[in-house]
Amino acid sequence: MSLTDNIIEVLLSAEVIRARVAELGAQISHDYNGKNPILACVLKGGLTFLADLSRTIPIPHEIDFLAIGSYGPKMAKTGVVRIMMDLEGSIEDRHVLLVEDIVNTGRTLAYIVENLQTRRPASLRICTLLDKPDRHAVPIPLDYVGFTIPDRFVVGYGLDFREKYRNLPFVGVLRET
Ligand code: PRP
Repeated sequence: MSLTDNIIEVLLSAEVIRARVAELGAQISHDYNGKNPILACVLKGGLTFLADLSRTIPIPHEIDFLAIGSYGPKMAKTGVVRIMMDLEGSIEDRHVLLVEDIVNTGRTLAYIVENLQTRRPASLRICTLLDKPDRHAVPIPLDYVGFTIPDRFVVGYGLDFREKYRNLPFVGVLRET
């Protein structure tokens, strides 16, 4: 059985993603020139995007990682989350760009932003590959958005279903069984 057997539609091909990531990287390079920003990747979903995005940004920058977990399966409803793995370095007086794969309700990023703001970064902005505005439950300012997508269950390019499908090079719609 192949992972692609359960993909009913390719929403964003690898080529389309590559082109858009390059555009985002050019914009970020322009906006952060001379600022040595920290690209803070939200694991695990953001990993693929971060890896590709970083390589389209020729200006000096650093990368760091954090991981978020929920206290239970109802995180989407309760918004009760916590930091499972924190950034390695200090962000005080640094320009931080959060890198996410997808914004659904916005609760994950709202929590992260609130937490990181207490560390007094010079600036804190958000870059997400995908945004699902139909799912937004809290207001969240998104500074860089790769693609605005409809409310469908998507996997691939870092996004999973039960930890699978992250390795697909495209974003596809998963068959709902
Ligand atoms: C996904 C995604 C975001 C979050 C978005 O993470 O990577 O972090 O959900 O949802 P929200 O806007 O409703 O908060 P997930 O919990 O699936 O973890 P993963 O990145 O390790 O797959």
